[in-house]
Amino acid sequence: MKPIILDVDTGVDDSLAIAYAAHSPELRLLGLTTCFGNVSVEEATRNSLYVLEQLGREDVPVHAGAGKPFFRHNFKGYAKHVHGEDGLGGALGDAMPKGKAAPLGASRFMVEQARQLPGELTIIAVGPLTNLALAVMMDPDFASLVGRVVIMGGAVTVPGNVTGQAEANILSDPEAAEFVFRSGLPITMVGLDVTMKTLLPRSRLREWRDKDTKLSRFLADAADFYIDFYERANPGIGGCALHDPLAVGVVIDPTFCRTEEMHVQVDTEGLLSTGRTIADRRAKPAHPPNAKVCLEVDADRFLAHFMSRVV
Ligand code: BDR
Ligand code: CA
Repeated sequence: MKPIILDVDTGVDDSLAIAYAAHSPELRLLGLTTCFGNVSVEEATRNSLYVLEQLGREDVPVHAGAGKPFFRHNFKGYAKHVHGEDGLGGALGDAMPKGKAAPLGASRFMVEQARQLPGELTIIAVGPLTNLALAVMMDPDFASLVGRVVIMGGAVTVPGNVTGQAEANILSDPEAAEFVFRSGLPITMVGLDVTMKTLLPRSRLREWRDKDTKLSRFLADAADFYIDFYERANPGIGGCALHDPLAVGVVIDPTFCRTEEMHVQVDTEGLLSTGRTIADRRAKPAHPPNAKVCLEVDADRFLAHFMSRVV
C-alpha cells in the first residue's frame, strides 16, 4: 500500500478524488490536508470532514492549511459558480460534519510524515500549491524526503480554464506553484492536457442513483451540479472533467497516462498570462527537467476503473 496525503480544496471533483482514494486498496490514506481554492479553507475543511464521514472513514485525519496565497493576500477567486455555494453542488444542504480538524497544520503534517517515511510518501495535491510550498520552506530536507508529488494543475499543450492561459489551481497561487516547481520535489503534473479528456458523462450518474445509498446519492447530487457548470461553460462537452480523481488514478496505475519529462515554469508576472505553466519543449531545453508531464490519457480505461471504485 502506498502511503499518501491528499491535499484538497474540497470541491466536487476533490470529493470524488477523496472517495476514489479511500476506496482503493493500493493506497494508505494517511490524511487530508486542506487549502483555500474552490472555497475558503474553513469550508474545504468542513467539506473534507463531511465527505470522509459519508465514506465511513472518520479514522482519516483532516489537517487545515492555508487560507490565502503566499503573496496575493487579496485573493477573490473562489469557484462557487463551478462547485456551488457550499462547494459540494448543494449536496451538503444543512448538514455539518461531526468531526473536527486535527490540531496539526497541513504543512507541518506533510513535513512530519515525510520525515517518518523517507522516500516513501506520495503527496497528491489537487488544490492551490500553497501548503506544499510552505512545507518546502519549513524543512530544507522536505523536497528530498518526499517520494513523489502528483499535482493536478496547469496546462502545457491546451488552454487554461480560468483565463485563456491559466488553470485554476496554479492561478490561485502562482508564486507558490513556481516555488514548488523550482523546489526539487519529484513532480508528476496532471494538467488540463489530460484531465479535460477524462470526462464523467451525466448518463453514468444513473449507476449511482440506482445504488441508492447515502454516499451514492450524495455524490450523484454533487456531480449533477458540476456537470451543469461544465455543459454551460463548454457546450457539447458531454460531462464534467475528472481533474482531481485522475491525479489519484495515476498513483494507483501510472499506465493511465503517458508522460514526458520537461522543465516547467510558472509565469508569475505575465501581462496576459499570469499563472500559465510554460514548458521548454525544445530538443535541447535550457534547464534539466523538473517534472513528468502527463500528455495522453487512456480515458476509457481510467473511467471504468474510477467507476468500479468510487461508490
Ligand atoms: C482544478 O480546479 C478546481 O476547481 C478543481 O477542483 C480542480 O482541482 C481544475 O482546474
Ligand atoms: Ca481541487
